[in-house]
Amino acid sequence: MVGMEKIEVAGRTALVTGANRGIGRAVCARLHELGCRVVVAARDEAEAREVAAELGGDALGVALDVTGQESVDRVRERIGHADIVVNNAGVLQDRDEKASTMAPDLVDRHVAVNVTGALRVAQAFLPGMVERGWGRVVMVSSGAGAFSTGLLPWAPAYSVSKAALNAVTLLLAGETRDAGVLVNAVSPGAVRTRMLPTGTRTPEEAAVDVAALATLPDDGPTGTFFRQGKPAPW
Ligand SMILES: NC(=O)c1ccc[n+]([C@@H]2O[C@H](COP(=O)([O-])OP(=O)(O)OC[C@H]3O[C@@H](n4cnc5c(N)ncnc54)[C@H](OP(=O)(O)O)[C@@H]3O)[C@@H](O)[C@H]2O)c1
Repeated sequence: MVGMEKIEVAGRTALVTGANRGIGRAVCARLHELGCRVVVAARDEAEAREVAAELGGDALGVALDVTGQESVDRVRERIGHADIVVNNAGVLQDRDEKASTMAPDLVDRHVAVNVTGALRVAQAFLPGMVERGWGRVVMVSSGAGAFSTGLLPWAPAYSVSKAALNAVTLLLAGETRDAGVLVNAVSPGAVRTRMLPTGTRTPEEAAVDVAALATLPDDGPTGTFFRQGKPAPW
């Protein structure tokens, strides 16, 4: 597809949140393979360091809780800049709830990580990307946030948060459109992780789709939602 060719990202600094397990961990491995200097960010610093040590080379493990501004600021101070940010950290804590009966603050809990957290991390690194005229921000969203397919009724607060994450994606893409920065969202499909043990895809398969958005060429899409490797309706 036009604009979807991959480019060389060797030497680029790539920060991945929620990178101690699941999709985030697999994305780190993929970006490391492509030659990025990977910053493995996780709530538990020891786990982050363990993943970074497994990757080897110049991979770095750092503590990062996306719900804390100080935590994000500390990482920015430590690494200086990121050319690629993969906002992967996420929670799903409302399985089998219904929108009509769930505790309303379940929405707040999901938004704090899945939306505000992703926004906070993007805000920390976007100015540097704009200044250098190059950046890629990938929001690991979900089909659960897609109005076009009816959201995910059995996980209503999660759905609200991923729909809002899609909105954040579009807004940030609009602001950075002419600055060499591409901001996109991706639905990785049903992936076998702690979040969805019954998923059919492996984290490594999902990581290929996620990393593809981190390696888009300069004339690649921005403000786009991807499913199964292709642009899809929001
Ligand atoms: N699995 C699927 O089928 C699927 C489908 C669509 C979208 N997704 C999305 O893919 C992303 C990764 O999910 P996964 O399937 O790999 O699930 P997972 O194995 O449960 O991983 C979630 C990751 O997010 C981290 N996290 C949670 N709260 C955080 C916080 N406050 N700050 C920093 N990190 C935090 C977790 O850290 P801890 O280990 O410390 O808890 C963990 O590393 C999520 O955004 C999810 O919504 C997954």
